[in-house]
Order: sequence, then C-alpha cells, then structure tokens
Amino acid sequence: MTNTAEKEAQGLEPVRIAVIPGDGVGKEVVPEAVRVLDAVSSSGGALEFVYTDLDWGCDLYRATGRMMPEDGLDRLAHSDAILLGAIGAPDIPDHLSLWGLLIPIRRHFQQYINLRPIRLLPGVVSPLRDREAGSIDMMVVRENSEGEYSVIGGRIHEGTPSEVALQVDYFSRIGTERVMRYAFDLARGRSRRLTVCTKSNGIVHTMPFWDQVAREISTEYPDVEVEFALVDALAARFITHPDTLDVVVGSNLHADILTDIGGAIMGSIGLAPAANLNPERALPSMFEPVHGSAPDIAGKQIANPIGEIWTAAMMLDFLGSRADARRVVDAIEVTLRSGVGTPDIGGSDSTSYVTDAIIDNLPEATD
Ligand code: IPM
Ligand code: MG
Repeated sequence: MTNTAEKEAQGLEPVRIAVIPGDGVGKEVVPEAVRVLDAVSSSGGALEFVYTDLDWGCDLYRATGRMMPEDGLDRLAHSDAILLGAIGAPDIPDHLSLWGLLIPIRRHFQQYINLRPIRLLPGVVSPLRDREAGSIDMMVVRENSEGEYSVIGGRIHEGTPSEVALQVDYFSRIGTERVMRYAFDLARGRSRRLTVCTKSNGIVHTMPFWDQVAREISTEYPDVEVEFALVDALAARFITHPDTLDVVVGSNLHADILTDIGGAIMGSIGLAPAANLNPERALPSMFEPVHGSAPDIAGKQIANPIGEIWTAAMMLDFLGSRADARRVVDAIEVTLRSGVGTPDIGGSDSTSYVTDAIIDNLPEATD
C-alpha cells in the first residue's frame, strides 16, 4: 500500500494547509518548506497534507488595490493551518501591505501568541565570540494581538506646524493574562525560569499593569522562578549573556525587537522560526518565520530556506506530529553540521540545494 492509501485506510483526514508565499524571498522559501513537508509525509510521516495556494501579497495589491481578496479571511477559516512566507515590497508602504494581510490574519484568528525559538545550531557561527551550539537556547513569547500595534490614534492639523500624531498602546487584562499564562506554562515545561520583559521605569501606565498581571499570574506557578528585566537592559543581555535566558515574555513591540536580535545572535535571521498561535485551536494558527521579504536578495536563489523549514517543523509539532517535527529539526542540524549553507551563514549553496540536503538527511520515521 502506498503511504497515502495507508493513512486513508487508518481514517486520517489530510491536513488542510493554506499556503501564502507572499513577497520577495517568501516566494522562494515557502515552496522549499512544502517540499520538506511532502518528503516528511511520504517517508512514513504521521500526517498527509492538502494545500491551497494563495497568491496574495504585493503583486495582487498592484493589480487590484487589495493585499487579499475581500473574503480572504473567510477563505482561510476553512484551513487547519496557514503557512506564510513574508510580506512587503519596496514600492508599497509597509503599513498598507502589512495591515492589509499579515496583521489582520494574526488578529482575526486570535493568534495571540507569537512563539519564537532562539537557538544556536551546530555548524553555525554566532557573531558573539566563543559561543558553542546549544549555549544559546531560549524561547521568546511575544504578545501578538495588542500592545503597541494598535490602530487607536490619528493625526490632526496635518501639514501644519501644529501637526500631531497620536498612537495609543493598549493592554487588556484578558490579553495580558493569557500571554502570561502561556509563558508560565512553557517555562514549567523547560527550566522553570521566566523573564518578563518590561519598561515600567519609563512607561507609566501600561507597563506597571503588565508587571502587575505577571505577578498575579505568578502566584499560580509557585514552581516557576520569575524575574523582571527592563527591555533596554535585556537587549544588551541578549548579546552579553544569552546563556542566562530561557523563556522570555514580552509585549508585541518589545519582543519584535528582541527576536531580531535573537536572529542575529543565532547566526542569521534567515534561520529563525516562528509561529503565530491560537493556543485554543478554535481558529487556524499561522506559521511564518521571523525574517521579512528581503527584497535585496530576492529572486537570486540565495535566501536561506531554513527559517521557513524550521517554521514548518513548528507547524508539524502544533498539528500533533511531534516526532515528525523532531525529524525535520534533526535533518536541519545534520545539514548545517555538514557545512551546507546559504551565503548568509557563510556558505555558497543555493536555496534549493540546502533543501535537497535537508530532505536527504531526514531520519527514518519511527512509530
Ligand atoms: C515580524 C515583523 C512584523 C511585525 C512586521 C512586518 C509588521 O517584523 O513579524 O517580526 O512587527 O510583527
Ligand atoms: Mg520583526
């Protein structure tokens, strides 16, 4: 029996994945991640996939004035997960492209957690001196639905000397409690240490509230040691002492910035994976690496596919196939250790060559 027939015989429905490569290097790395998913599936993996390819993004915007069709969100609602590349192009203002596609998906589907592992993999040289593989190994939990990313505000007296632009951050109790609980749970399953990123010395309303909620939730987790770290000092600590950090929870903007530092210290932002999660699984989650559309290197077949492939592994894990997720991450590690890599990590291999190597290095599936 073929693998597909076996899975059908076991009554397993294929997982429906909405695929949005988006713009720039997204168009190159997403097909590579799909190739890996298919290789995982056809080599004894637990899941079978059916894909819906969606050509949404800046090309569509140029043609129609919309980043996605009017019923885009409804169409995505029918999927089990969304695999996305990157959004943005130099000729379209970012606030139009991102708020026309990426941010509405994160919000509509209540993907209020953005989970971003930061790990130095074997065979990769960190820009930090003398760092061994594994010595940087943390998880950033980014609040992904509110905070500084808000549309509350506006502009008055435009174009005059009295012009004012106003943008209001908001932190709800529900939104803050749920991200804290997620982070405490994650810490409980790791080293039982949680760092709460804050800025309550300078931001006088929202950040003291954020800290207060963290303290309240911490009483539910007496076994987790919690520390508070100011975002500026924490940014420095990511560089000087990343080994002292394990789970870090931060607001939407703070953790956005910290995870770019994370990408840098792990050797390339092209390696950094991420997942926009609806932890209740009531709505589809979206799997999207940390890196952007990188128009400067797009179309040259030199984009690092590993961030997207590792992101796809996070999707396998979230969809319940932990063993297959492990196989993909193992294959990435073996590939990097063998010296294969794109130019961003000092190699000279192409995007698809790296993917071929990862597929060749996929370990056997074990039941
Ligand atoms: C990210 C990106 C996005 C964000 C941008 C493109 C809006 O930087 O996912 O980290 O800030 O959320
Ligand atoms: Mg970012």
